[in-house]
Amino acid sequence: MSAQPGTKLYEGKAKILYATEDPDILLAVYKDDATAFNAQKRGTIAGKGSINCLISRYLFEQLEAVGIPTHYLDCPEPAQMRVKALTIVPLEVIVRNRAAGSLCQQTGLPLGAVLDPPLVEFCYKNDDLGDPLLTEGRLLAMELATAEQVADITALARAINRELTAFFDRCNITLVDFKVEFGRDRDGRIILGDEISPDTCRLWDNAIADPDGRVLDKDRFRRDLGEVEAAYQRVLEVVTAAVQ
Ligand code: TMP
Repeated sequence: MSAQPGTKLYEGKAKILYATEDPDILLAVYKDDATAFNAQKRGTIAGKGSINCLISRYLFEQLEAVGIPTHYLDCPEPAQMRVKALTIVPLEVIVRNRAAGSLCQQTGLPLGAVLDPPLVEFCYKNDDLGDPLLTEGRLLAMELATAEQVADITALARAINRELTAFFDRCNITLVDFKVEFGRDRDGRIILGDEISPDTCRLWDNAIADPDGRVLDKDRFRRDLGEVEAAYQRVLEVVTAAVQ
């Protein structure tokens, strides 16, 4: 069954959101477009839309099964996901199990250093400001969320990390870090939104020792490592096998 998209509500870098006939339900259409470094680098990853949609679906289903509320409803088409309408909290919530990316650049921690306990960090979701890293004090001063919501979001982020780390362990993949976004439903309940995919996670193949060869995520695009489509396809295959 193909959903008939209604009014386009929002076009982001990786997805377009449409209204549906039900005000509580939106249709997210995943795109093949890829951007990095706040859209200074642009490209296309063939098949990414449908791959990321299906990976996100499987991961949302895993999280729902252990009681973590997500916005996922169903997928009427390969690159389309019907989701619950949420009021998005304008935070990028990053969980890090190992040092990589901006953490290495900003702190000098060596690539791959184990972070125990895992770090939970907040960035302000604002492209004009370059998604800056926030302190909890700044976040509260900006009234982006209440202290209670920050506590809820942090606890959910840690629970998501525990579940996804265990899941990817079964795939022989290390979940290095990831970014998630949350929203509030009509009742004010905090719900996991957006997507969880190789666009938003760092994933390393445990069977490969080479630090570039093991990369199975968007760093292949960011850092021009090549074989981008193959890496996304590989993640879909192992995730699909693990949920069977
Ligand atoms: P970072 O090391 O560049 O801060 O990225 C941390 C994680 O967040 C990594 O898994 C990639 C993901 N991420 C996004 O999903 N969107 C973004 O805009 C950025 C900068 C990172």
